Amino acid sequence: MNNDKVGIAVLDFGGQYSHLICRRVRGLGVRARLFPYDTSLEHLKASDVKGVILSGGPASVYDTDAPRPDPGILQGELPVLGICYGYQLLVQDRGGQVTRSKRREYGKASLNILSHAGLFAGITEKRVTCWMSHGDSARRIPTDFRVLASSANSRYAALASMDGKCYGVQFHPEVAQTEHGAQMLSNFVFGACRAKRNWRMDDFVRRTVDELSTTLSGRVLCAVSGGVDSSTTALLLHRAVGERLQCVFIDHGLLREGETAEVRRAFRDAMGIDLVMIDAADRFLIALKGIHDPEQKRKIVGRVFADVFEEYARKSGSFKFLAQGTVYPDIVESGRTSKLSAKIKTHHNVGGLPKDLSLDVVEPLKELYKDEVRKVAEILGLPASIRKRHPFPGPGLAVRIIGEVTPDKLRVCRMANKVVEEVVVKHGLYDKVWQALAYLGDDQLTGVLGDERKSGHQVTVKVVESVDAMTADWARLPYDALEEMSRRITNEIEGVVSVSYAVSSKPPSTIEPQ
Ligand code: XMP
Repeated sequence: MNNDKVGIAVLDFGGQYSHLICRRVRGLGVRARLFPYDTSLEHLKASDVKGVILSGGPASVYDTDAPRPDPGILQGELPVLGICYGYQLLVQDRGGQVTRSKRREYGKASLNILSHAGLFAGITEKRVTCWMSHGDSARRIPTDFRVLASSANSRYAALASMDGKCYGVQFHPEVAQTEHGAQMLSNFVFGACRAKRNWRMDDFVRRTVDELSTTLSGRVLCAVSGGVDSSTTALLLHRAVGERLQCVFIDHGLLREGETAEVRRAFRDAMGIDLVMIDAADRFLIALKGIHDPEQKRKIVGRVFADVFEEYARKSGSFKFLAQGTVYPDIVESGRTSKLSAKIKTHHNVGGLPKDLSLDVVEPLKELYKDEVRKVAEILGLPASIRKRHPFPGPGLAVRIIGEVTPDKLRVCRMANKVVEEVVVKHGLYDKVWQALAYLGDDQLTGVLGDERKSGHQVTVKVVESVDAMTADWARLPYDALEEMSRRITNEIEGVVSVSYAVSSKPPSTIEPQ
């Protein structure tokens, strides 16, 4: 078995779930890679691809400039599964007709399965929930295709070619909302494509360490924050380049309570990696003075970070590379995957680096989602205290403080986050939720302290459940945990008179308030 062979190629037509398809296929144990939509069939064959998945995308197949793949791919030289836009391409190319549908379908739909073979093999239910997101649909299907499933608004919700090599689905089997979506992908991957299992996280670790050790010729500077992403990046690089790695921890003054000491201890004692600690809090806080706009705050934190690194790099010798713990959702949400996807937030890992950076950036985790990073971390022996720690944004508490970052708001925010974390741990909920945090803005509410009416801060607690941070739901915390948070925040943090709990999901909210 050659682990470097691809397995399944996903052609990216700019859909928001393109990478998620790869991830689902990898979840089945088969190596999958995202390729630009116009990658040639020859190239895919040369990579020993066993099957191709055409992603969704925002274009319409009848637009003159609609992105199209190599014609050989649509003709089914390799097994093909078209999803949403990819499905429409397949229908149009093979002689069917796609039109703008009168009734658009967004969100959950009921899928009526007509044939329990092929894509739907092993699924016994006649009706399952699926996730639709389309404006166009097939009006006439190619003569050599048959219908496998329909929905109220899509008569041809799933199709298969008569020879069983090509499939098209109008819905998204890759998203969690589609019931048995993993089974459908598995049927395509192992049934139609006859792919072999060739992807395991320990292969990823081995391959990445090999690649890094052969490609990184000079000294590497690694920015660590104490979070799982940057710590895992540091460990991978430590394996690959050993003493040529220098880890630097910049305290930007926007960290959680006690974080600096904890990170130093974990790196030195548990991983045997010496950290250079740089206290740059004043610089960050001065740069953030008077800044209210969240995007500007992120950019400023990113810029000062990069400046501090560059200064350190220049004065401490000949570094050639800057390693960062960027993970895939950071890239998606910064709009870096495709010119067609909209920017949600500038993540400081990817948004704040100046163009004239004199170090080459290395991002070994940029293809992975958080839960995959955690697996890599476990393989590398990252201590559980770091591995299981909730994610924390690069710009730190700056994005949990709405409006200007002032010393007073920073004090309240830091203490409130500490209380929330402690209560969640105490109630045995820490490992069950994705993130538990607190934020505040400039709202001043009236309170009573003793006999006195006094205005004070309003703190909002937010605890969310998620599998990959792409979507999230608010956690239904027990009332006694909420009550304890509220009581402790108002009692222990000077100047807070009110606590609320955030009950918004993502979308439309994001996990961090800004
Ligand atoms: P959002 O708020 O976009 O967050 O729903 C998704 C996940 O990413 C974390 N996050 C960040 N991480 N730099 C980071 O390194 C950032 O600027 C940033 N903003 C959000 C967030 O904590 C959540 O886990």
